[in-house]
Amino acid sequence: KLFTSSSEFEQDLTITRRPRKGVIIGAGRVGMACAYSMLIQHTLDEMVIVDNNQEKLEGEVMDLVHGLPFVEPSIVKGGTLQDGQDADIVIITAGAKQKQGESRLDLVQHNVEIFKTLIPEIVKYCPKAIILVVTNPVDIMTYVTLRLSKLPSSNVIGSGTLLDTARFRYLLAEKLTIDPRSLHAYIIGEHGDSEVAVWSKVNIAGSPLVDDNLENNQIDPSLQAVFENVKNAAYEIIQRKGATCYAIGLGVTQIVQAILRNQNRVFTVSTMINGIHDIEDVCLSLPAVVNRQGVTRVLNISLTSLEQQQLQKSRQVLRQTIAQLNL
Ligand code: LAC
Repeated sequence: KLFTSSSEFEQDLTITRRPRKGVIIGAGRVGMACAYSMLIQHTLDEMVIVDNNQEKLEGEVMDLVHGLPFVEPSIVKGGTLQDGQDADIVIITAGAKQKQGESRLDLVQHNVEIFKTLIPEIVKYCPKAIILVVTNPVDIMTYVTLRLSKLPSSNVIGSGTLLDTARFRYLLAEKLTIDPRSLHAYIIGEHGDSEVAVWSKVNIAGSPLVDDNLENNQIDPSLQAVFENVKNAAYEIIQRKGATCYAIGLGVTQIVQAILRNQNRVFTVSTMINGIHDIEDVCLSLPAVVNRQGVTRVLNISLTSLEQQQLQKSRQVLRQTIAQLNL
């Protein structure tokens, strides 16, 4: 007989893995941009979107799932944190949004009150999840989440200056006619007005963009203008369209993929900093390694004394806000 029964040849080659389950809290523009980006990049096998405005939630979910025939199949539903039980990742976008001319720090107490109810619920239903905080002021809200959840600091990540770093790379690359993926640059510190451009680390193929005796020479005004545009980007966009959403949705998707695929990618994300650059007990962004355990290593990059000073100022701004929190 040429062939025995086919079963003899058919081993079970399917790679079984636990379905990748994520919860998005907040069906606003940022939450839905995260949902849409993860859907079209097939980041999750199951996505539960939570919002206290049921009508809005139903509409957003209906509008999303009607597109499922066009993408890789995954489960998308609107529900509660209980429906999100045992999720691998919980993305928090819920909270008050910056209004025109409002700073991110102006939102803080309103959002702290929301988190006081929300965080214990997340820990109750998703005790093993990595929590990704996007709600602004994101560094403060990341700190608040850590304090309220009592989770290890690796398990709570803030989107931080992920988006500022992307804006910095895009705008510098556009000016230099280089693909932004080939231009390396970092924004660190607060995701906000005191953020720091690490000019001494900007490089293309390892070649620095500015010479490293930064203290003495001024940054070229046209380059400084790029940084101003980075810092003010959100205000400019909010003035024109009311909120930012697409870029942060794409960035959040990259962090989620780095976690679920255990990629050990380096992002400038907001995390608890204890002991690096003489910084203690505050969440802010430095380049950090992200994998299945969350943020596992913060990279102690060398900074010029000017960059150190600016980072300390950023720390101070955040510590002052934390000191006023009614936690
Ligand atoms: C921004 C929001 C995400 O910078 O803070 O666009």
